[in-house]
Amino acid sequence: MKSRISVTGNPAYDGRPFTAFATVTPETDVASLNLNWGERDLPERERTKHVHGLHPYLGKFIPQLVEVFLRKYRPKVVCDPFCGSGTTLVEANALGIDAVGCDISAFNCLLTKVKTYRYDLRLLERSVHDILVQLDLRLQPNLFGAPQEVEESQSEYLRAWYTPEVLRQLLLYRSLISAYPYQDLLKVVLSRAARSSRLTKHFELDFPKAPVTGPYYCHKHRRTCYPVTDATAFLRRYSLDALRRIETFARIRTEARTEILQGDARSVAFPPCDMVLTSPPYVGLIDYHEQHRYAFELLGLPQSREAEIGASWKGDSQRAVETYLEDMTEAFANVMRAMPSGGVLVVIVHDRKDLYDRIAQRLGVKVEYRLQRHVNRRTGRRADAFFEDVLVWRRL
Ligand SMILES: C[S@@+](CC[C@H](N)C(=O)[O-])C[C@H]1O[C@@H](n2cnc3c(N)ncnc32)[C@H](O)[C@@H]1O
Repeated sequence: MKSRISVTGNPAYDGRPFTAFATVTPETDVASLNLNWGERDLPERERTKHVHGLHPYLGKFIPQLVEVFLRKYRPKVVCDPFCGSGTTLVEANALGIDAVGCDISAFNCLLTKVKTYRYDLRLLERSVHDILVQLDLRLQPNLFGAPQEVEESQSEYLRAWYTPEVLRQLLLYRSLISAYPYQDLLKVVLSRAARSSRLTKHFELDFPKAPVTGPYYCHKHRRTCYPVTDATAFLRRYSLDALRRIETFARIRTEARTEILQGDARSVAFPPCDMVLTSPPYVGLIDYHEQHRYAFELLGLPQSREAEIGASWKGDSQRAVETYLEDMTEAFANVMRAMPSGGVLVVIVHDRKDLYDRIAQRLGVKVEYRLQRHVNRRTGRRADAFFEDVLVWRRL
């Protein structure tokens, strides 16, 4: 059955998109807002403001979209059962709303935790700088002898995707982390540097195909580029960037509570919440573990690939679609058990296979809106444009 339950409010694409986010109140008619931002209306630096840009993540949703719906529904506790890189939790905290997030990926939970943590900024700054000094001392021959050796990595992946020197630098940094406070933040800095220093072509960072070992023509920079031979410059750059982002967020963050549950949204025990705001994984689109493979390998994080709903390696056959429908229904039914009757669910998804009306029917929710939003740039620099659905459901 293809017919949609209801399609309401597809605001005019023409005209200036809505950007007065702070003016949204419970009375605002969201269906009348033009949320079709282009790069000019909502530039990348705004979409990746403060801690949102702490680490690249493919499939993030736009913080300003989250802000609009949090301001509209003003929940006491918002839950994102597929919290990914933590956009909902960060925005909720900035608005003083308690938030719960769940994700199957240990790396995504680490990222969310690092973004929402409350730091002693001076202690953080000292740690972030000191570890770089210690790294330099160990990398360079000095008065006290030869550069420090590090234990060789057993990971085939790491040995294939890094030059021996880059891998040595990354492993040395990793070996120093345990001496510092705020180890999770240092792990995220390391991971970001590791992402940038893989032997990938610059235009393949999101989906690297094979390690590159010599010069290549780079479509992104329109010139000949070379494989990365040094990770320390990235470590330095991302350390400073992380500090700046955390300091900026510290100025607006609130005392609101944040809880992160690493687990399967189908079975995790969610605490009570009165709103769900999420962008779920879609069928056959992205492999969220593989996306951060370097981090899993380097940080030794536990993996739960099998439990990832809709992972691209599972394909998008009819069978995969049916399994996806069951998994999503189970996940939403699970989180709805933690909601009161009348609780609102906002689901943001590019529903190109028209699956979400069927999920809504299976869940027995009331569909209040089904908006479509034109997306011509997310946080990644992908030129392809598409329509994203914003579904607003009520738990009966
Ligand atoms: C579209 S992303 C969410 C992105 C998020 N809105 C953000 O802005 O970063 C979907 C997320 O669902 C997670 N996921 C997939 N299967 C899951 C499961 N069974 N339980 C919980 N999370 C899961 C993926 O790891 C991924 O992070």
